[in-house]
Amino acid sequence: MRRRNKLVAIDVVGAVALLVPAQALASSVPEGSFNPGLLLSVGSGEYPVGFGTEISGMVFPKGDPGSIGYGGFFQAQTYAGDYARLAFGFQLGNVVGGELGIAGLTRSDLHTSTFALHTGVFASAAVLGTGLRVTIPMTGADHGLPAHGVEVSWVLTLKVPIYSGKIFNSFGRPLRDEQGPITAAAREASGWADIRDPALVAHLSTREREELAALWLEAALAEHASIATFAALALELLALGAPADLLAACQQAAQDETEHARLSFGLASTYAGLPLGPGTLPLPATARLGDAAAVAYLSFTDGCIGETFAAALARRAQRHAADPAVARALARIATDEARHAALAWSIVAWCLALDPARVRATLGAALAEPEIEAPAAPLTDVLGLPIVPAARHGAVPADEQKPLRRRAERTARARLKRMLRAPREARVEGDVIP
Ligand SMILES: [Fe+2]
Ligand SMILES: [Fe+2]
Repeated sequence: MRRRNKLVAIDVVGAVALLVPAQALASSVPEGSFNPGLLLSVGSGEYPVGFGTEISGMVFPKGDPGSIGYGGFFQAQTYAGDYARLAFGFQLGNVVGGELGIAGLTRSDLHTSTFALHTGVFASAAVLGTGLRVTIPMTGADHGLPAHGVEVSWVLTLKVPIYSGKIFNSFGRPLRDEQGPITAAAREASGWADIRDPALVAHLSTREREELAALWLEAALAEHASIATFAALALELLALGAPADLLAACQQAAQDETEHARLSFGLASTYAGLPLGPGTLPLPATARLGDAAAVAYLSFTDGCIGETFAAALARRAQRHAADPAVARALARIATDEARHAALAWSIVAWCLALDPARVRATLGAALAEPEIEAPAAPLTDVLGLPIVPAARHGAVPADEQKPLRRRAERTARARLKRMLRAPREARVEGDVIP
């Protein structure tokens, strides 16, 4: 996300005075995961049960953890303490995949070691994985003859993924100029956030606190920019002669976003250990006053789709948030964003009635686009944050966000098509003034 005033002073850990640009907390990192864990195999061979550890790492070149990734693995197992099996190699896939590598099997008498080809297929979900592994002996270490035969094993893994990549969130309607969304920069500031009970974050490592502070700071800045979005929308509605109920709902939405920003700055400040707030906001010129088609278009893209998505995202984050303060903030945000989406539909319907020909043409053109481009999301790059603790504090991985966004767009398109086909009935459907 573009930001015009970048230098920020943040003492992220409180105890240590650091001067850190906010972007340093969110530097670009590759999308991927590092997965240490335990490994159990049951199969053919002299000793059927092997127990040990596996470490794997995957990167996702498309920048989407839901896409095909590649990486490497290392396994170390012992079989009843009598011999060990070490393997390393290459993995390809995602939820399901395959692996190819080299295995070395030893005995206590190292002279009978065996080198083998390691092949396997795997499937994984959350922390659990399973697979089938075939170890094909190739050569013995010294004598030329393998000491081990072919081993076919069923494998069970328990791994804790440590996620690297983009994570989190925008719960606000973006403030735009011609070049894209705008937010303020963060700074140390009173007036936007209380630092809550430090015990809330005492169990987190410094690294986790830094990254969660960065995450919530991005969300807070997006919410803060939304206040201006609704203020500008109120002016646009006034210029178009909108009724009082639309105007009042728009002003209420600006107040909601103010509260969302306070809640988000509060969480960011608690993780950071010092009060954070927004700096100056580089407001764009309000250029489109009196243009009902432009108001309808942005209400559709950023409100009907964007805020429906924001509501679903906040609800999803709330379900996994174990921290009560985080869960409370997300519940409030989810409820408000759903109401803002309803307001956006009301504005679309009103604009359609106001200037049917132009608004229909603009919205029809929007429907003809294969996909409505999402505003550049203030996703925060996170390196080395275990995904389970992150989710407890409100984080939603990028791969879980995409289906929510797609569903929000699909349902909004269907509803808009119905409105354009039968504007009279759709007016009633869209007339949900909060
Ligand atoms: Fe919001
Ligand atoms: Fe909103």
